[in-house]
Amino acid sequence: MTDIQFIGVLHGPNLGSLGTREPSIYGHQTLSELDKSLIEQASGLGAVVKTFQSNHEGHLIDQLEQWSQSGCRGLIINAGALTHTSYALRDSIQGGKIPTIEVHLSNVHARETFRHTSVIAPVCLGVIAGFGFASYHLALRFLLDRPLAH
Ligand code: DQA
Repeated sequence: MTDIQFIGVLHGPNLGSLGTREPSIYGHQTLSELDKSLIEQASGLGAVVKTFQSNHEGHLIDQLEQWSQSGCRGLIINAGALTHTSYALRDSIQGGKIPTIEVHLSNVHARETFRHTSVIAPVCLGVIAGFGFASYHLALRFLLDRPLAH
């Protein structure tokens, strides 16, 4: 493995619109503010975070595949609505073998029933939902506290 180890953060469909998208649910802060706060949290702990957002399932899978071959030691994923539907993303998480935490800004279990099911949760270490940006920060803290596999 040649690359420096890092934590990857994948944001799925519609998360690029944070700040203007249903702010009563998702808040007023933007995706770039979220990414910046994660990069700062990691750098304070001597770690590196890389982030990627796409509205396209295949692009998320391509990025995950690339990260799994280049030193990604942990993955945080908010797959948006793909959480509830995407077996392709689930297969990619399972195949990529990166320790992964599923996160959500909102408490999906307190919302519509279609949001109560996650097809990716069974291949993740765990799920953190309902704490806004803190869902990501808690996941990052957990992944950085884990001992490195190699
Ligand atoms: C979300 C919850 C999903 O149900 C929804 O489709 C999203 C955002 C969240 O972060 O709360 O796009 O993943």
